[in-house]
Amino acid sequence: MKLDDQIQKLEAGALARIQEAIDSEALEAVRVDVLGRKGSLAQISKDFGKLTPEERASAGKALNAAKQALESAFESRKQAFASDALNQRLRAEWVDLTLPAPGPRPGSLHPVTQIQDEIEDLFTSLGFAVLDGPEVETEYHNFDALNIPPEHPARDMQDTFWLEGGNLLRTHTSPVQVRGMEKLGPPLRMIAPGRAFRNEEVDASHEHTFYQVEGMMVDRDVSVAHLIYFMKTLLSAIFRREVTVRLRPGYFPFVEPGFELDVQCLICGGPGCPVCKQSGWVELLPCGLVQPNVLRMSGIDPDEWGGFAFGLGLTRLAMMRYGIDDIRLLQSGDLRFLSQF
Ligand code: DAH
Repeated sequence: MKLDDQIQKLEAGALARIQEAIDSEALEAVRVDVLGRKGSLAQISKDFGKLTPEERASAGKALNAAKQALESAFESRKQAFASDALNQRLRAEWVDLTLPAPGPRPGSLHPVTQIQDEIEDLFTSLGFAVLDGPEVETEYHNFDALNIPPEHPARDMQDTFWLEGGNLLRTHTSPVQVRGMEKLGPPLRMIAPGRAFRNEEVDASHEHTFYQVEGMMVDRDVSVAHLIYFMKTLLSAIFRREVTVRLRPGYFPFVEPGFELDVQCLICGGPGCPVCKQSGWVELLPCGLVQPNVLRMSGIDPDEWGGFAFGLGLTRLAMMRYGIDDIRLLQSGDLRFLSQF
């Protein structure tokens, strides 16, 4: 076959392959095969040496023409693939710019705040005032006025962050009951929710910063029966069901008698389970009748007035209610945790 004819045949075959290529990779493979350095066109030009000058001129023309035709066919096919790809992407990534923007995602209340709000609502409805006190306290309000004088061993029950000038970070919310008695006098019904601080090694169940609610009622003829009534009302509201409670003796210098109030295990209802360590009861709330010295130091006559007081661990309660097993999560600021409540 004459070289010119070979070139024409090659061109026709290559054009067909270009049209048949299904994507840009297949097309590129054809290009390398035909127009590449070792491609079929290059192979043909190797035979030019054997031709007469006239034949060579004619074949050279044909080769150039074929080369140009193929290059432009490749180019246009390539463009077609590119514009197909672009259209496909535009279809897939289409955005309606006229749609209204999504609003800001609403936040949620912290689980401790939720329980605190509920407790405040409940006690407000029972005629209690909600009081606030300073987190940086005097030694007097945090200890002495609660019947814990210097050198009293009960000071060691709470690891204290001492500050300059004899002040401290309050180790409990009980100093607010002293401030309440000083400021409002009897009769008095108050709760004081807030933060307390202890110099503790932090682990899954200990934080240096935690939340409590202190509660106090001072009136004439206040008895343990009142204390039990209010505590049962409180716990039934928090756990949203009737709860059974029991009192055990407990020592706190600011109450006499002092108690640990246990609630019958909410998981097993009494027979015993891992949560209540098989005892059927969960220790929840220390409380008692206000020690006469405490009343007296805040200017209240213990012969005329009596009272009860209790301390509720809000952090602990939130953990129980929501089944949170690591106290550190509560102050982690981790939105993946917080947005569940
Ligand atoms: N303030 C105590 C504490 O944080 C808790 C407490 C115990 C408060 C007995 C009271 C109470 O009002 O009567 O350890």
